Parts: sequence; structure tokens; C-alpha cells
Amino acid sequence: MSETIKPHGGTLINRLVTGGQRDALLLEAEQLQQIPVNSWTISDLDLIAIGAFSPLTGFMTQEDYRSVLDRMRLADGAVWSIPIVLPVEETLAERLLIGERIALVGEEDQVVYALLEVRSVYTVDQREEAVKVFKTDDREHPGVQKLFSRPKVYVGGPVQVLNRPKPSKFQDFYFDPAETRKRFVQNGWKTVVGFQTRNPVHRAHEYIQKTAMEIVDGLFLNPLVGETKSDDISADVRMKSYLVLLDNYYPKQRTFLGVFPAAMRYAGPREAVFHAMVRKNYGCTHFIVGRDHAGVGDYYGTYEAQEIFRNFTAEELGITPLFFEHSFFCTKCGNMGTSKTCPHDKSHHMHLSGTKVRAMLREGICPPAEFTRPEVAQVLIEGMSDQLVPSNNL
Ligand code: ADX
Repeated sequence: MSETIKPHGGTLINRLVTGGQRDALLLEAEQLQQIPVNSWTISDLDLIAIGAFSPLTGFMTQEDYRSVLDRMRLADGAVWSIPIVLPVEETLAERLLIGERIALVGEEDQVVYALLEVRSVYTVDQREEAVKVFKTDDREHPGVQKLFSRPKVYVGGPVQVLNRPKPSKFQDFYFDPAETRKRFVQNGWKTVVGFQTRNPVHRAHEYIQKTAMEIVDGLFLNPLVGETKSDDISADVRMKSYLVLLDNYYPKQRTFLGVFPAAMRYAGPREAVFHAMVRKNYGCTHFIVGRDHAGVGDYYGTYEAQEIFRNFTAEELGITPLFFEHSFFCTKCGNMGTSKTCPHDKSHHMHLSGTKVRAMLREGICPPAEFTRPEVAQVLIEGMSDQLVPSNNL
């Protein structure tokens, strides 16, 4: 373990309680106020428990929340750009006392996921949060829409996690940060580049991944499989497409596929910083940030998610961001490139609109191999015929 990069804050947090202590806490939970939690919160809880959100030990108190909004840091100064919070219905929240322990119970399955020690109960200005985190209060923005749909009273405090959500599919690709760290060491990787994605891997993604792979020991392909907006491609279809791509085009001994079971925020620049910190916790030394990382619509500038990193020193970040320009296939070069490496004008750059690609896939036609590997296109075509592929982001 000593060979891997230090987790954010120095220690890999573990808030999972097992064995006899877990039994005792489950018993205690029966006497506590029960707060219903949805799948988004359960996913956050799990990521806190396994240390993916180190140094967080629970949901943010008002002090941390304010500090994150105002200066992209926790109250102790550690870099943190996205609020990780527990919104609770006002009628329930007003009954809570500071110092009290409460049980967080799945709203659908009634499972006791965690106990939380109440340290802070606070009402937020959702518009302020929207503007600071998403840079807009436009309710068309999926992250903003989500934010406004939740209660505006938050409860903060450390958690003890007693149950974990069970993945329904692709169980073999769920690894906790302690596990990925161990695997990277076993593979002999001293440097690992993390790649976040919520899309199928097209040639542009492949190009920036492989460019990064030229300077590091391994690639951690870490697709986000938590909640996404309804028109993103399902994790199920995407996973199939990653497997077929890796099988055919990537060296097995230098790639590692593991899912990131978090919800997508669509917070662009701030989410890029958050994504980087989390991948550090998984043991990555480098992290790819390309064009419009974690963006949606036209809310963010193409390279804003790269520029935001200037707010932090290399020491504070710990992980090294690798920035890539918009990449494309150039017909004159006969290969992939960016404006940094290709001298030709746009007329030689292959561009396919999402609408065009969707239309092709729907008709069972593979887009050009310069855009998407045929094996990947095939998986997407099949997914689309099962009506699993929605109408956007192809
Ligand atoms: S994201 O919401 O997860 O960022 P996506 O899966 O499309 O969306 O992107 C994954 C990563 O690849 C991000 O770092 C993004 O900036 C980068 N990326 C996507 N397309 C391109 C491209 N054509 N050129 C350069 N980088 C890209």
C-alpha cells in the first residue's frame, strides 16, 4: 500500500461496520428515528463508507457545506468542490436534536443502511447552491432540476454504514478503493491514469486514453454507473461496449475496468475536480480531463473544466490532471489528433452529429470506424434495438 498515492486527506476512510458491532447497531436502530433515504443518498453513503469520498466521514455539516460552496474546500482547507449532503423533509428534520443518532432507511426496501450522528441541521438557499455549483439556476439543467426537487433542509454528521446496496449486474466490476489500490500494486503499476465516462468509448475517448497510457503504467477505465439523466445511455449497454472494446483494442496487462457507482451531477468544472479527488482515492496518480468534462448542453465553456484546476496547487490536488483538447479523426492526417497535433482545417476533421449517429445506429448502420469501433457500434445497435439506447449523447 505504501507504494500507492496517498488518499485525499491522507487516510482512506472506512465507515463500514461489521460483525458484532453491526448487530448491536442494527438493534439500536430499532429505537431510533428513521429517516427515509433514496437511491442517490444510498450511493453517496456507500461511497463515503468505502473511502471513495475520503476524507468525508459522513454528510456535510453546515460549516463544510458553506466552505465548499464559497471556496471549493472543506472547512479544514482540503480541496472539495461538490456538496455531499443529506436533504431531509422539513417535518422530519425539525424533530431532530443535535447529538441524536438517527437511522437512515431505504425508502423502497426498508433496509437500515446507516446510523448518523446529527451534528448539524440547516436550511439552504437552493438558488445560491445552484449558481455556485452548476453556474446556473436554469431548471432545464438536469443537476439544477434535481437540486430543486429535494428538500432544502440538510442534516450533517458522521455515518456508520451497516448495509451496502447490491449491484444487480456486473458485480465483478465493483471494486472498493482498498481493492483497486491493492490491484494496481499487484500489477506493478506505479502510475495509473483514471478515466471518467458516462458514454460509450468512441475513438476520441480511446485516443486520449491511449495518449495518456504512453506516459503511465496503467489505465483505470472507471465508468460512472450511478444515476444519470434519463437520456444517457444505460450503464448496461455501456458496460457491454467497454468489454468488447477492451477485448479487441487494449492491452490486458495495462488496463483495468471497474465501475464508479456514483450519481452524475452534470456540474462540469466543479465535478471535474470532484472526479479527480475521488479517483485519487481509488489509487490513480493521473486523471484525464478532456473537452467539456461532465458538462451538459451549453452551460460550460469547452475547457472550463480544465481551467478550474488553476485554483489549486499541485500539492493540494495530489493527483495530476492530464488535459486534452477536443480530439477528432483527420482524414488528411489519416489519424486522430487535436489542434495541437493536426495542421489541417476543419473540412478534414471528421464530425458526426449525435443526430446523425443515432439515425445510423437505429437503422442498423455502423458509423464510420474512424468515429466508433465497429464492435462497439454493434453493441450499441443491439442495445438500441432493445430500446435500451435513448436518443441522446451518441
Ligand atoms: S463525462 O460527462 O463523463 O465527462 P464523457 O463520457 O463524454 O462525459 O467524457 C469522458 C471524458 O472524455 C471527459 O474527460 C471528457 O472531457 C473527455 N472527452 C469526451 N469527448 C472528447 C473529445 N472529442 N475530445 C477530447 N476529450 C473528450
